[in-house]
Formats: sequence, structure tokens, C-alpha cells
Amino acid sequence: MKLTGENLPFIRVVPPGPEAKKVLAKDKRYVSPSYTRAYPLVAERGYGITIEDPDGNRYLDFTAGVAVCATGHCHPEIVQAIQMQSEQLIHMIGTDFYYRWQSDVAETLTKITPGRFPKKVFLANTGAESIEAGLKLARYFTRRPRMIAFIGAFHGRTMGALSLTASKAAQRRHFAPLLPEVTHIPYPYCYRCVFNLTHPKCNFACINYLKDHIFTKVAPPEDVAAIVVEPIQGEGGYVVPPAGYFQRLQKVAKEFGILLICDEVQSGLGRTGKMFAIEHWNVEPDIICE
Ligand SMILES: Cc1ncc(COP(=O)(O)O)c(C=O)c1O
Repeated sequence: MKLTGENLPFIRVVPPGPEAKKVLAKDKRYVSPSYTRAYPLVAERGYGITIEDPDGNRYLDFTAGVAVCATGHCHPEIVQAIQMQSEQLIHMIGTDFYYRWQSDVAETLTKITPGRFPKKVFLANTGAESIEAGLKLARYFTRRPRMIAFIGAFHGRTMGALSLTASKAAQRRHFAPLLPEVTHIPYPYCYRCVFNLTHPKCNFACINYLKDHIFTKVAPPEDVAAIVVEPIQGEGGYVVPPAGYFQRLQKVAKEFGILLICDEVQSGLGRTGKMFAIEHWNVEPDIICE
């Protein structure tokens, strides 16, 4: 989108202005304090890369909502699609009935996801819900109880997804007991390597740790249903694993009949330059949560 006078950043009043302050006051009175806002920005409308607050201040939205508005705000084609659908059929219940669009979108997803093998799609409402579905599918398919997840991971706030999440202690505080049998291992965060080693001389010490320590002392691999991983860790600090990491991880998973689940909620659908971030490593996961 071209920046013009209409959408250039512009500060009319020092934020939060009087209208924003009214929203903040009402929010404080009525809205759950569990939402963790970092600063008092009230978004009233959005267009392209710009958002505007109730006092007419305009900002460039570098965060794309919460990393979800890859198309910009209120893209006219998306607005039109929503308008058309809401006039045609506004409620759906995919568990009970059939819809043309449900199979259409499922077919498209099977084509754009990595791997040329037969696939099926489960449609969910949120990222956390897709993680819950991935967890259930992995347990159902393997009949195994355990999961491996990563320190620094964010997978959502529902109880199953939260059990895999380990990016901030505050997200888990006072919510235990969580799902049992989840073991967290270090993410391949080479810049702050927990083993104090350097890639590639480390020879993937973080993967050897999984095989040599976790699988032999903590979580028997034949009990592990899945390894759940963000191809690029988002909330954990936008961490990109080194070349070769995911190929090695998948090899270990395959060796023990463990499924590889990629959480692409934040990294998928073109956000990293490939349709799915895991494609940067040429790896085909067993389950993708998007
Ligand atoms: C990697 C990742 N997984 C899962 C989620 C949870 O998605 P949602 O907030 O839609 O439940 C998020 C949300 O930020 C995320 O970044």
C-alpha cells in the first residue's frame, strides 16, 4: 500500500487522548485483567499498514495486529469476501453438516502444505484450538501419552496448548496442574546456546541431549506421541534454527515412530517468504497447526 497523506503516521493529540482514555477507563472497570497489554493503544480502525486511534492519531502497524494481519487491515478483497459470505450463510457447523467451502479450503490447504502425500484438514477457530487438535490427533494415532516441546515455545493459552508453552513463567503461574508427561527441551537458539557451544562445531548437542538424556532418563521414546515445535520460535524471541536442525530432528522422530508437529500459527502462510516456514529446511512434518 502506498503511503499518502491519508495513511501517513500523524499525532493529533498526545496518546492516549481524551477518547482513548474513556475506552481505557471502561476497559479497566469491566474487562478481565488477564489480558496483558504493554501500552495504552486503542485501535479504532485500520487500513493497509495504518491503524487509527479514537482521537485520530495514526500509526504504522509493524506488528500486523498480533502477527496475523499479513494482508494489511481491511484489505478490500477480504472485506468483500466477508460481506458476500455474511449475506449468503452466516453460521456454519462443520461437525454436523457439509459445506462446499469447507472442502474447497481443505483441498487448497492440502495443496499448499509441504509434502505430496494424501492429507486431511481439520478446521479450527484459533491457533490454540489447532494445537489442541494436533495434540489429540497425535495421541489418538500413536496411542502414546507423552509430548516433547521446547523452552521458549508459545502455543496458546488453553490447557493443552499451555502445557506445551514455556515462553514466560507468568503464562503458567497458578494454572497447574497442566497436561502431564510434557517434557521441554532447549530450542536451537545458537546465539544464546544453553550448552555454551557454537554451531556447527556443537554437532547439534541439543538434539543429542534429547536422544542421550531425555529419551534414556526421562521420557521413553516409545511413549512419546509427538515433538511439537515452532519452525521459527515467535514469542520466544524470533529465533531461527540453524541449517540442518530440522532434518536431524525429524530423523530422530522417525527413528522412534514419533510424529513431528509444526506450529505454524505465527510463521505460516507466507510470513517468512515460503508458504510454511518449515519449508526453509525442506522438511515435511506429519501435522501442521496453522
Ligand atoms: C506460535 C503460536 N502458536 C499458537 C498461538 C495461539 O494462537 P491463538 O492466540 O489464535 O489461540 C500463537 C499466538 O500468538 C502463536 O504465536
